[in-house]
Amino acid sequence: MPGIVIVGVQWGDEGKGKATDLLGERTDWVVKFNGGNNAGHTVVVGDEKYALHLLPSGILSSGVNAVIGNGVVVDLEVLFAELEALQARGVDTSRLRVSANAHVITHYHRTLDKVTERFLGKRQIGTTGRGIGPAYADKINRVGIRVQDLFDENILRQKVEGALDQKNHLLLKVYNRRAITCDEIVDDLLSYADRVRPLVADTSLLLNDALDAGEVVVFEGGQATMLDVDHGTYPFVTSSAATAGGAATGSGVGPNRLDRIVGIVKAYTTRVGSGPFPTELFDESGEWLRSRGFEFGTTTGRPRRVGWYDAPMARYATRINGLTDLVLTKLDILTGLERIPVCVAYDVDGERFDEMPVSQSDFHHATPIYEYLPGWTQDITGARTFDDLPVEAREYVLALEAMSGTHISVIGVGAERDAVVVRRDLV
Ligand code: GDP
Ligand code: IMO
Ligand code: MG
Repeated sequence: MPGIVIVGVQWGDEGKGKATDLLGERTDWVVKFNGGNNAGHTVVVGDEKYALHLLPSGILSSGVNAVIGNGVVVDLEVLFAELEALQARGVDTSRLRVSANAHVITHYHRTLDKVTERFLGKRQIGTTGRGIGPAYADKINRVGIRVQDLFDENILRQKVEGALDQKNHLLLKVYNRRAITCDEIVDDLLSYADRVRPLVADTSLLLNDALDAGEVVVFEGGQATMLDVDHGTYPFVTSSAATAGGAATGSGVGPNRLDRIVGIVKAYTTRVGSGPFPTELFDESGEWLRSRGFEFGTTTGRPRRVGWYDAPMARYATRINGLTDLVLTKLDILTGLERIPVCVAYDVDGERFDEMPVSQSDFHHATPIYEYLPGWTQDITGARTFDDLPVEAREYVLALEAMSGTHISVIGVGAERDAVVVRRDLV
């Protein structure tokens, strides 16, 4: 079963990087299919810690071919900075290939991301400020710049001029900022052309050939189901398809090539940025979870909002993605609690909702209905089989599995590469 999709179940930072890394030895290809350097995937290998933003985490495994798919938005400055930083640490990055159809993030996207957020005031989304939303807006608006445009200066100039046309009116007249010249953008983009050229390939063809040959391809999602532009808590979402369907459109393979759809879910919930979050904690148990789980953003360093596990959300993600497996991460963080609340349904103004409400306003007003499961105090970071876990931890996993709608195949018990309990292999 060679096509394996990794997607986030909640609002990101579930441990997708670690899950991808876990498959490293059995993986031939890893492809990033959505998002850009808004992601932050941390992988811990022995004493070494890597934080990847734009590159897929699979690049850390030697012998794995890494691909940046057409669905990604690429900030070229970040791309080369990240490649150089990895090379300096001895990582072989020579197998990276970039889709000619991926869009690029430029100076004006970053500027617009920041000024629009500022103008939104109280309604701001809390974006990462990396230019992600404006770059995808240009793509959908058909005024984006693609990687392949860097190789034809005339075309590039025409496209940048077209893109700047409206933006400079906005920047000058609405946002009171200076206009951006076509030359500065073109010069900047052209300065990367020679370095990008050898990386560019027909990545859809490469991936389909690999799948035809029975090789293992891991599709590493950025962001998560609840941040997906269609299925997430819109408008408090990112601007790409972060759910399993995005793996097909964002890489150029057919949906029938996606054999295993693996949802990564934390044993509790976190969120960075604004938007509804029914199980969010504002008391000392929230502080406890944040400091024990070290819940601070990999990309922006912001403290993450924290709350208990939300089972209707996991069921929703199972449905939207067609999840075949779950990887339950950070179970070790819950050690020491007498009892663990799990949200089993929502209360909206006196009405019980067993599934995610259709209306976003209802979700904003939802308060969790909790069930309390017994906790454990034993250190579980050394557990490597399901039976190594204390009975209460096993019961917690089994209860979550029954509520979440699909099989919990892997359990994370620490940040280290080997700190996992595998109940069912993913490859
Ligand atoms: P991603 O964006 O989904 O890849 O997740 P992040 O890397 O942003 O955040 C997950 C964090 O949890 C990282 O620092 C990981 O090293 C860490 N992590 C992943 N799995 C586990 C686990 O099972 N236990 C613990 N303690 N940490 C984990
Ligand atoms: P990984 O892949 C957590 C959030 C931002 C903001 C919203 C929109 O590490 O799980 P954007 O810059 O994408 O326009 O911001 O989405 N966000 C993430 N939150 N993890 C991420 O990625 C995120 N990528 C974007 O905080 O609320
Ligand atoms: Mg992250």
